[in-house]
Amino acid sequence: MSKIELIITNNYDEMSQRAADKIIELLLKKPNAVLGLATGSTPIGLYKILIEKNNSKKISFKDVITYNLDEYCDIPKNHEQSYFTYMNHNFFDHIDINKNNTHIPLGEGDSKLNAENYENELNKTKIDIQILGIGSNGHIGFNEPGTDFGIGVHDVELHNKTINDNARFFENDIKKVPKKAITMGIKNILDAETIILMANGTNKADAIKNVMDNKVDINIPVTVLNIHKGKVYVIVDKKAASKL
Ligand code: PGA
Repeated sequence: MSKIELIITNNYDEMSQRAADKIIELLLKKPNAVLGLATGSTPIGLYKILIEKNNSKKISFKDVITYNLDEYCDIPKNHEQSYFTYMNHNFFDHIDINKNNTHIPLGEGDSKLNAENYENELNKTKIDIQILGIGSNGHIGFNEPGTDFGIGVHDVELHNKTINDNARFFENDIKKVPKKAITMGIKNILDAETIILMANGTNKADAIKNVMDNKVDINIPVTVLNIHKGKVYVIVDKKAASKL
């Protein structure tokens, strides 16, 4: 059983800073580190801090390799809400990373083949730190409740809760939200050496309580962090910690 280290912070900015500190520490000792990255609103502040540190030459991403968790299917790679676009706009365009070293699953085209290709890529490497957000239903990546913990990269039909949660990025129009995605599986996430789960806001409080209760429940995917063999940090703001 892993021993999760819980870090409760006062607010979003502090949560972002504490997560950034871990990445900065890693990059200072391992400039060619492999990072697992997440999208969504949670890690935006983390990326802002890392951009500042890079621009002020405190850290470099020149030799860093990244793998993202997931991508929507049904929308083009260059769609304004694709995770490819998100990563470029919110992070990669502002740092000294070699974009050939950045990997995001391909949502367009044959999703089974894309999943197989991404699985092969992941199997050639070892992620040093995997950043995770969490869905209000407890999903990590797009591993929705009920997902077998043993499967690798796969395509997935998104749950209604996820579609509703993500409608805010699609003009609040559920019809515009992609219904399908490709995601690292839980198996791939657990292969990371260290996992940093970030959560802020009261809508994440139930999921955080479940993971900190030391449960392991296939219907609450995030609880799998309790069986991770490496280090797990759960970094939350006070609101996400309000049910602990
Ligand atoms: P959020 O999404 O950061 O936008 O809340 C997290 C997730 O769904 O994993």
